[in-house]
Amino acid sequence: MTERIFVAVAWPYANGSLHLGQLAGCYLPADIFARYHRMRGNEVLMVSGSDQHGTPVTLRAEREGVTPQEVVGRFHAEFLDCWERIGVSFDLFTTTGTRNHREVVQGLFLNLLNKGHIYKDSMLLPYSAESDRFLPDRYVEGTCPHCGDGGARGDQCESCGRTLNPTDLINPRSAIGGSSLEFRESEHFFLRLTAFQKGLLEWVSRQDHWRPNVLNFTRRYLEDGLKDRAITRDILWGVPIPLEGYESKRVYVWFEAVTGYLSAAKEWAQRRGDPQAWEPFFTDPGAKAYYFIGKDNIPFHTIIWPAMLAGAGSLIPPYDVPANEFLNMEDAKISTSRNWAVWLPDYLDRFDPDPLRYVLSATMPETSDSNFTWHDFVRRNNQELVATYGNLAHRVLTMTHRSFQGRFPEPGELDDADRELMARLPKALDEAGGHLSRCRFRQALTTAMGLAQAANRYIDAKAPWQTRKTDLGRTGSTLWVCLNALSCLRTVTHPFLPFSSQRLHEMLGFEGRVEDGGWRLHKIAAGQSFPQPTPLFTKLDESVAEAEQERLRAEAA
Ligand code: MF3
Ligand code: ZN
Repeated sequence: MTERIFVAVAWPYANGSLHLGQLAGCYLPADIFARYHRMRGNEVLMVSGSDQHGTPVTLRAEREGVTPQEVVGRFHAEFLDCWERIGVSFDLFTTTGTRNHREVVQGLFLNLLNKGHIYKDSMLLPYSAESDRFLPDRYVEGTCPHCGDGGARGDQCESCGRTLNPTDLINPRSAIGGSSLEFRESEHFFLRLTAFQKGLLEWVSRQDHWRPNVLNFTRRYLEDGLKDRAITRDILWGVPIPLEGYESKRVYVWFEAVTGYLSAAKEWAQRRGDPQAWEPFFTDPGAKAYYFIGKDNIPFHTIIWPAMLAGAGSLIPPYDVPANEFLNMEDAKISTSRNWAVWLPDYLDRFDPDPLRYVLSATMPETSDSNFTWHDFVRRNNQELVATYGNLAHRVLTMTHRSFQGRFPEPGELDDADRELMARLPKALDEAGGHLSRCRFRQALTTAMGLAQAANRYIDAKAPWQTRKTDLGRTGSTLWVCLNALSCLRTVTHPFLPFSSQRLHEMLGFEGRVEDGGWRLHKIAAGQSFPQPTPLFTKLDESVAEAEQERLRAEAA
């Protein structure tokens, strides 16, 4: 039975380049997941886009003395280029700057307003008399009322993850150098989150398949009690409020950005000439919607967006929100302001995409923060990709090419060891598939690499380079078994290593795209010719790690 899988991925602010933390946090796991489900023959829709509104963007524009549009145009183009080069396979990566998005946001706003889920009220917002304007929430800092952290921002406390209003802060102060801060009354629209509290708590309690950190965080949040939240702000860079008299206000970026999942699905449907095609992904009760995000975005995807979906009526809630924890860089927290990060475009200018996808998959921060180091990158590339997987492929293919004149051998009678390895192949697909469907990416990769290790042990024991001189029949059987293991590895590693998987696919004499072959074992056809093999991966010198560490330190602010 084919499933319908909506793969929604966090919308990156278009205010700077992407870094490895974001890739490991949500884009890579979402891509692995989407690729797996496509191979299973499921109906997959994977969308996201540039989040072009919000303070992060206007801040950068102000600093550079250019328009926000200039900033988002530049980074949106860069994001698209990065997805292409790192192989993140969106069905649509759009932006929040489209007319479609504005209409969908305004439509949802009015829908919720008409149903009484949005109401008007006045609130106190931070105001700077000096610059004669309301200050964005992010420009206000103070002490978090929940956890006591001294550096909480007016929109969210990074330390405990709670969403905040600027007035919640204890001892609020302006975050822009010494400017004075007062609070002024302003009229705004509020999302009636209190009305959803009970329903959300019941719903969340049934989500046994969620990651414990996501489930516990959300449950605690709900048990603490929800507050209605203002969803408009006194700003001009954003989606206008679709009512007269609010020309100086905009829809708040959080209400707006999460609605991007819906507008992107609609845009995708329009683009493919089937404007209703988005519907089943949002209304079919059997469809499964997965939201891939970093842990700082949890409340927006497990509370606010589900409340908006429920309020709109007949839109399905997330099936899972497999939020990742954080990836550290050389044992220190990634910081864009201090430039402690490895930027994806820089990485891609210097190295191949698959080694990074591999290393980030193997160390993915699924259940706790994890750490990227350049030494580990080089070590895993050399020991795991080159020595274990790549070397297996190269040994088997070159030996077969040489011994059987560029054609696959006919297997003779299989012995116990042959049959044992052959039996392992469909099992590896099942096992890795089980892990992937549960968003256990590290375990799935361990299964795949376990197969490569088993095949290496098998070939070492069979020593075809020796039997070759005495028993070509036996050698043919050994190599045929190994070739089938490679055929299996090409499939099972595809979600992680799409580029090398495609190359191996071609070296094995297969045509077309590896993903079109499905999640199953394609047996090697005896007698079929195949091209002269070339190495799958490239060994890196240990000095690469030193040089990259040096670069990171030198460029840090
Ligand atoms: N741009 C925001 C961030 O990076 C929001 C991303 S997720 C969204 O934190 F769906 F809500 F946009
Ligand atoms: Zn806090």
